[in-house]
Amino acid sequence: MDLIGLYPTWFEPGLGSGWVVGLIATAHVLFSHTAVGAAIFFAGLAVYANRTGKLEYLEFIRRYGLFLLVFSYVLGSITGPGIWYSTTVASPRGISALIHSFVWKWATEWVFFVIEVVGVYMLTYLATRLDAKTYLRIAVIFGLTSYTTMLVIVGILSFMMWPGQERWFTEGGYLNGFYGPNTFAQLGMRTAFMFTMTAVVGGIVAARFDDAAFKKAVLARLAWLGLASTAAGAAMLQWYLGTLPESAEVVMANRLPEHFAPTLLAVLGGVAAYFVVTLVRPRWLTPALASVATLAILVFGLWPEEVARESIRKPYVAGQYVYSNQIIGRDVPGMGIASEIPTIEAHGLLKTHVFTPEPLRTVTPENRLEVGRFLALTTCSNCHSLSDSGMRPLARYFGGSTDVPAIAEYLQAALATGATIYMPRVPLKDDEALALASYIASLAGPAPAVRTAQQTTRTER
Ligand code: HEC
Repeated sequence: MDLIGLYPTWFEPGLGSGWVVGLIATAHVLFSHTAVGAAIFFAGLAVYANRTGKLEYLEFIRRYGLFLLVFSYVLGSITGPGIWYSTTVASPRGISALIHSFVWKWATEWVFFVIEVVGVYMLTYLATRLDAKTYLRIAVIFGLTSYTTMLVIVGILSFMMWPGQERWFTEGGYLNGFYGPNTFAQLGMRTAFMFTMTAVVGGIVAARFDDAAFKKAVLARLAWLGLASTAAGAAMLQWYLGTLPESAEVVMANRLPEHFAPTLLAVLGGVAAYFVVTLVRPRWLTPALASVATLAILVFGLWPEEVARESIRKPYVAGQYVYSNQIIGRDVPGMGIASEIPTIEAHGLLKTHVFTPEPLRTVTPENRLEVGRFLALTTCSNCHSLSDSGMRPLARYFGGSTDVPAIAEYLQAALATGATIYMPRVPLKDDEALALASYIASLAGPAPAVRTAQQTTRTER
């Protein structure tokens, strides 16, 4: 019989594996975007300082560079591999799909990243030792290489959402996957908002200057950068939303919380107001206040953005063919990939999943609950937490029902057929559906005996 090459599931009981990846990725967006924005800003500022002879701006570059060495390059270099580690266990086939399409793109990105890291050290430690022209050249090279890393990554990120061209599915070809309508809109949006982050984080550095006039001058530059980039970002966001396929719009309309759009506007307004204040009252800005603003961007700006991005590409995790639960849900003849749904439909998941524990391959009255838990872990836990906190707790979606046959019927009617567009198709044999339903019912109101049984299985694992 055909087996499907699923890996074991990484189960994170508190948050859910998706949120672990999300938390690391959100922090990484702040560190990396601030760095790229700063690199370009430094290049511009170095040119300006050279033209006007206002060499004190080089001191700002030096100090901001030193700050970024820790903020972006140390923390960014921890969270970057953190994304690799966490996605490799949370979504091995998602990451594998990206590697199979873009390994050379990533290799390219790493080359530019190495140049970037050398560049930031040079800008910081050679600031007072090099002649102005050489320093300027380094600043420009640093800015350009830094932006190149963003260019490459954005293509991969937009493929993750949607392969660039529909013909990629039939013909393959990495450029077909890389460039799509979404790629440039996303690039524009990230470019704009990276300057917003650079301006906010730059406040932490500028607020420390003792010379009030210089502090004012630097903060004014940061504030204008911030205001312009926030306005541009809002426009780019509109463009970006316009490039999303219809299915994403349906998910957005139905599945994002109602307060999402007003909140987004409020955040943009708040950011703009913050920059106006730092512009007219630079004295008020302290490093602590700028740090709070940075944190606010992270919590109110980036986190919701990452959650929305995660939601609208559902039920897929990558390329619109790898489901979030790792099952291949679609044929991609261009890459020689076949959907696994027919195999699962024919033989059931328990029999075809390589890592099903042997005692659970056949459902019996004794192991039913445990089989159910295994099925929930394998097919649902990537998007639904199995406790009552974390991401979309599974029990809540069944309204506390303990009616096992009714739940099983729902599972076979809705999930097995793919009736809900934001969820993967999960074909279930009758006995598998009953087992999963028993487990879901036990989440709602476990009888004491059941609870003990569950605890036993948990400690055994
Ligand atoms: C690809 C991610 C994903 C997987 C895997 C997944 N779901 Fe969902 N599920 C969602 C999303 C997204 C929603 C919409 C809920 C929301 O955000 O409010 C949802 C909603 C639901 C609902 C509410 C009904 C509805 O139509 O909105 C039920 C019931 C449900 N899921 C059960 C399951 C079960 C059982 C499994 C495992 C067999 C599962 N889901 C696997 C993403 C997923």
